[in-house]
Amino acid sequence: MKVLIGTRNPKKLEECLRIIGDIPGIEWLTFRDHPFPEVEETGMTLEENARLKATSLVSVTKLPVLAEDSGLEVVALGGAPGVRSARFAGAGKDYRRNNEKLLKLLAGVEDRRARFRAVAALALPDGRIWLAEGVLEGEIALAPRGSGGFGYDPLFIPLGDSRTLAELAPEEKDRISHRRRALERLRPLLASLARGQL
Ligand code: IMP
Repeated sequence: MKVLIGTRNPKKLEECLRIIGDIPGIEWLTFRDHPFPEVEETGMTLEENARLKATSLVSVTKLPVLAEDSGLEVVALGGAPGVRSARFAGAGKDYRRNNEKLLKLLAGVEDRRARFRAVAALALPDGRIWLAEGVLEGEIALAPRGSGGFGYDPLFIPLGDSRTLAELAPEEKDRISHRRRALERLRPLLASLARGQL
């Protein structure tokens, strides 16, 4: 069963494939096998955008699609950047500028609690869709550290650790990540789909 992973972000794609790439009977297709247009993220929530990405790509490709929308929610910023995480410092989706903006807004702020949230969506050509959420709690570091991962990883310290996500080995991040938690919830559905039982 062919399933398209609906992201054009190479780092996200890499993580998704590491996490659920092993489901027997599923042949994962990516934007490299099956080029598709960028879906405009016009939703007000991660849920809306995950749904939008998955259903738009099903319409374009006629394939089952697994899509995901994620973001960083900072308590002291009322949940921002949230759904705007990728474009926090402007349309360029520049990770370094996003991180600089975040640190500037949190200068002198003691409450540095934050969470990553991911919403994954599995949509089928017959119109059915399933959503699943994953959360990773943590806090924002005082300065960036590490070179792994992507996005806000150099600034995010998961609860119970002293290292940032960018200082973890990829498999350590995968064990706890919001993306892992969201995708694992869809694993049974994907396994059923692969067996033709969905
Ligand atoms: P989108 O889901 O394509 O809208 O992008 C999500 C944005 O949230 C990314 O561009 C990152 O800025 C941030 N983000 C989501 N997940 C992660 C993660 O695992 N690490 C670091 N940043 C992330």
